[in-house]
Amino acid sequence: MTSTLDTPTPDAARSPLDAAPGFVANYPPFGAWTPDAMPAIEAALDAPPRPDTPLGLYVHVPFCRKRCRFCYFKVYTERPSAEIRAYVEGLAAEAALYARRRVVDGRKLAYVYVGGGTPSYLSGDQIRQLFDGLRASFDWDTTAELTYECEPGTVRPAKMEALAAHGVTRVSLGVESWDEALLELNGRAHGARHIEPAYAMARDAGIPQVNIDLIAGMVGETEATWQAGVERTIALEPDSVTIYQMEIPANTALFRALKGEEDLGGTLADVATRRRWASEAFEALVAAGYTMTSGYTAVRGDPDGKFVYRNALWQGADMIPLGVSAFGQLSGVHIQNDKHLPQWLERVGRGELPVQRGYAMSDDDRLVREVILQLKLGRLDRRPFAAKFGVDIFDVFDGPFRRIERAGFGARDGDVVTLTWDGLMQVDALLPAFFLDVHGGDVQGPFGMAMARRQEVRRGA
Ligand SMILES: C[S@@+](CC[C@H](N)C(=O)[O-])C[C@H]1O[C@@H](n2cnc3c(N)ncnc32)[C@H](O)[C@@H]1O
Ligand code: SF4
Repeated sequence: MTSTLDTPTPDAARSPLDAAPGFVANYPPFGAWTPDAMPAIEAALDAPPRPDTPLGLYVHVPFCRKRCRFCYFKVYTERPSAEIRAYVEGLAAEAALYARRRVVDGRKLAYVYVGGGTPSYLSGDQIRQLFDGLRASFDWDTTAELTYECEPGTVRPAKMEALAAHGVTRVSLGVESWDEALLELNGRAHGARHIEPAYAMARDAGIPQVNIDLIAGMVGETEATWQAGVERTIALEPDSVTIYQMEIPANTALFRALKGEEDLGGTLADVATRRRWASEAFEALVAAGYTMTSGYTAVRGDPDGKFVYRNALWQGADMIPLGVSAFGQLSGVHIQNDKHLPQWLERVGRGELPVQRGYAMSDDDRLVREVILQLKLGRLDRRPFAAKFGVDIFDVFDGPFRRIERAGFGARDGDVVTLTWDGLMQVDALLPAFFLDVHGGDVQGPFGMAMARRQEVRRGA
C-alpha cells in the first residue's frame, strides 16, 4: 500500500457500516498530524541526518484512468496532458528543493517507491522525463530497490522498457481480481484480459521482480471467484503476492453505496469471510512454495533482500515525500504534502516545499511506531529494540502482549514474539492496544512524553 491518503483518512473515518479493524498505515494516527509541525519539519531539514539511517524516496503519481469504487487514495481522473507534464516537472523541482537541504546533503538513496494513483498511467516519454528529473537531484546507482506501481490495463512494452532502462527492480501490478464482471462492478478500469499480457510485458522487459496485488472481498466476490483468482495468480508464478482485505473508508463510493445512497450492485462479504479468504489464499501460496513475509505478502523463493522499502520504513528509515498528498518522514518527523493538486503545483512552482502537515515524534512515539509496524511481519525480536532504544519491549508492552497471548494470537519465547497464523491474519486489529494512551491505546511510554506535550497531542495541536 502506498504512502498517500485522501481526506478524510481511513483511521479518522472508519465506516460504522464496516466493522473491519482498520489497516494501520502509520503511527501516530493521521488525526494527530497538524500544520503546527512546520517548525519541527524545517529544523529536521536543516540538521544533519541521524547516523546510520537509510534514506528513501516516495513519489506519488495521482492520476488514474478511473476511480475504483473502493479506493481511498488521493487520485485524479481525466486530467489534461499539460497538467500531467507540469506535475512531472513539479516532482523534479520538489526533488531539487530537498536535495539542497542539510538532512539530504549527498546521501544516496537506499530505495525508491513510485506509487499512486497509477504511475503506469504516464507514457513512456513521461516516465523517462520523471526519472531524468529525479536523477538530476539524487544518485540512485546504488539503490537496492526501485518499485513502480502499475494498473494492468495501462501497461505497454515501451513503458516497461523505460522502467527497466531506469533501473526499476520491482513492478507491482494491481490485479485485484481475475473476474471480468467483478472488476467492472468494482469500477476497475482494466479487465481480466489485461492481466496476463501486462505480466508478460514486465517479464519481457526484464523487470527482476513482479508483485501482484489482490483484494479479498470485492463487491460480488464468491467462494468460486476468489478461489479461481488465487489459482490463476499462483499459476503465473509472480515473485510475490500481496493480499489486502477489503477496507471501506468513508471517502469511497462503496461506503456511499452501503449507506444506501447508491446501488451496491452485488453482495459484500463480511469481515470474517474476507479474512478467511485472505488466509486460504496465503495457505495455498505457502503450499506452492511461497514464504509469508508479513500479514499481507507472500514471497516466492528467498525472501531476503526483497521489500527494502517496507523493511526500511518499518525500521524508522528516512523517506522524502514527493508529490501531492505524499507522506514521508525525516529524523523522526512525519511530513505530509498539500492534498490539493492546484496548490501543490503552485507552491512547488514558487520554490516552496509543498508541505501541509506533520508530526514531530517523541521517543515514545518512535518506539511504538517501530514495534507496531514490525509486528506486521509476524515476528519481533526484542534485542534490536534494546540496542536502539535501551528498553525491553516485553516490559513496556507487557499488557498488549499478554492480551495477544491470552487470545492465542501469539507467544513470547526467549527474545522473540511470534504471531500465530490467526494472529497474523488479523494483525491490524492487534495493533491499537500498543498505541500510547494519548493516541487512544493502552501504553504509557517509557520515556515519559512530557505532560505539556501529552496535553498538546490530546488537543490535536
Ligand atoms: C495505489 S494502488 C496500486 C496501483 C494502481 N493504482 C492499481 O490500483 O492498479 C495500491 C493497492 O491498494 C489496494 N487498495 C486500494 N483500495 C483498497 C481498499 N479499499 N481496500 C483494500 N485494498 C485497497 C489495492 O490492492 C491496490 O492495488
Ligand atoms: S487504479 Fe488504484 S489508485 Fe486508482 S482509483 Fe483504482 S485502486 Fe485507487
